[in-house]
Amino acid sequence: MRVGILGSGLMGGKLGTIWARAGHEVVFSYARSEKKLQRLARDAGGRARAGTPAEAAKDADALLLAVHWSRFDDVLKECGSLSGKVIVTCSLPMNDSDTGLVVAHKSSGAEKLAKKVPKARIVSAFNTVPSEVFFAVFENRGRGTPPSLAYCGDNAKAKDVAAQLIRDVGFDPVDAGPLRIARYTEPFALLIGQLAYEGDRGPALAYRFDWFEERNA
Ligand SMILES: NC(=O)c1ccc[n+]([C@@H]2O[C@H](COP(=O)([O-])OP(=O)(O)OC[C@H]3O[C@@H](n4cnc5c(N)ncnc54)[C@H](OP(=O)(O)O)[C@@H]3O)[C@@H](O)[C@H]2O)c1
Repeated sequence: MRVGILGSGLMGGKLGTIWARAGHEVVFSYARSEKKLQRLARDAGGRARAGTPAEAAKDADALLLAVHWSRFDDVLKECGSLSGKVIVTCSLPMNDSDTGLVVAHKSSGAEKLAKKVPKARIVSAFNTVPSEVFFAVFENRGRGTPPSLAYCGDNAKAKDVAAQLIRDVGFDPVDAGPLRIARYTEPFALLIGQLAYEGDRGPALAYRFDWFEERNA
C-alpha cells in the first residue's frame, strides 16, 4: 500500500517506520523541520520518503492523521482534495494542555473529523495504545497471541484497509463497529494513557480482549 503520514511525531514517526519496514510505500509529512522528515524516511528504509501533506495524500491508499487536535485544520488544508481517501486517525481531541477531551459523550474527535472532510472515509484506530509499545509489538508479531487493537468506522472497505495496517504492526484488529463508537474508544484511550504514564510498569502497554464461552453456575 501507499501510506501517507500526516504528522510525523511519536505516533506518525513510529507507525510510518513500521509500515515501511513491513513493505509499504510511506511518505512522511507534516513536522516542523524538513530534516526530521528526511531522517525518518532514511531510518525507516524501504520505499519511505519525505514529502508535503499534499504529496503524502496524492495517490495514497491510506493516510494516517497523527497530529494534535489543534493542528487538524492546518494539516487538512495542506492536503488538497481528500475526496474518497481512507483516513485512519489516531488523534484524540485533547485540550491544549493535553489533560482532557474537548469532545466527548455526544460526539468524538473522529466524528468531528468526518464532518470536516465529508468525502473522506474515516477510521479511528491506534489511539488506544501508547506509541511506546509499537516497536515491541512489531518485533513480537507471529509469536504468541497478539494484543488487540479496537478500531471503528462507517465504511467497510476503509475498515479493511485499516485492519490490514493494524495487522501489519502486529495487533489483532477488533472491529468495534461504526465511527460513533469512537465516543467510547477515545475516553478508553485516556484510561490506557493513565496506566501507561502514571502506573509503575512503564509506558509500553497494550491490551487484549478475550472472549469466553458463557457458563452458568
Ligand atoms: N503519543 C501517543 O502515545 C499517543 C497515543 C494515542 C493517541 N495519540 C494522539 O495522536 C496524535 C499525535 O500524537 P503524537 O504524540 O504523535 O504527537 P507529536 O509527537 O507531537 O506529533 C505531532 C506531529 O505534528 C507536527 N506539528 C506540530 N505542529 C506543527 C506545525 N505547526 N507545523 C508542522 N508540523 C507540526 C509535529 O512536528 P515535530 O515533529 O517537528 O514536533 C509532529 O511531527 C495526537 O492527537 C494524540 O492525542 C498519541
